[in-house]
Amino acid sequence: MKKIFGIILMGTLILGFLGSAMAGGNYRKGKYLFRKNCRACHMENATGPQQANVLEPSTYTMTEWTAAFAPEKADTYACKAEWEKATPKGIKDIYSYLYKFAKDSPTPAKCK
Ligand code: HEC
Repeated sequence: MKKIFGIILMGTLILGFLGSAMAGGNYRKGKYLFRKNCRACHMENATGPQQANVLEPSTYTMTEWTAAFAPEKADTYACKAEWEKATPKGIKDIYSYLYKFAKDSPTPAKCK
């Protein structure tokens, strides 16, 4: 009986951990998706359909990224359609990538 409780407890902990990791977005995937869906326009000498502001993780602080990704804010962007193409899950991943390497994060990064 004790053993079963132990197994159930472990399972709950593992599921809880996976769940929270997923809710926070996957920054590795986000990096890939950002390059695929966003960089074409948001880089220096963009080769995409438009030249927009250069964006990379260290462009903004963590607070600024959170504000930039607020749904009511994102709805006003010229590239709203691109965000929709990236899917809500993808956007979450992209956000966690930009946030993790933000200007004031412990590991600020450019998009290389
Ligand atoms: C087809 C070109 C294009 C693509 C692809 C694109 N954008 Fe944009 N984006 C723009 C333009 C144009 C603007 C408005 C002008 C500006 O602010 O640079 C803009 C504005 C923004 C802004 C607000 C302005 C700023 O600099 O903070 C953010 C944030 C943003 N885009 C993020 C993204 C993200 C994330 C993706 C990928 C899901 C993406 N964009 C894909 C063209 C694009």
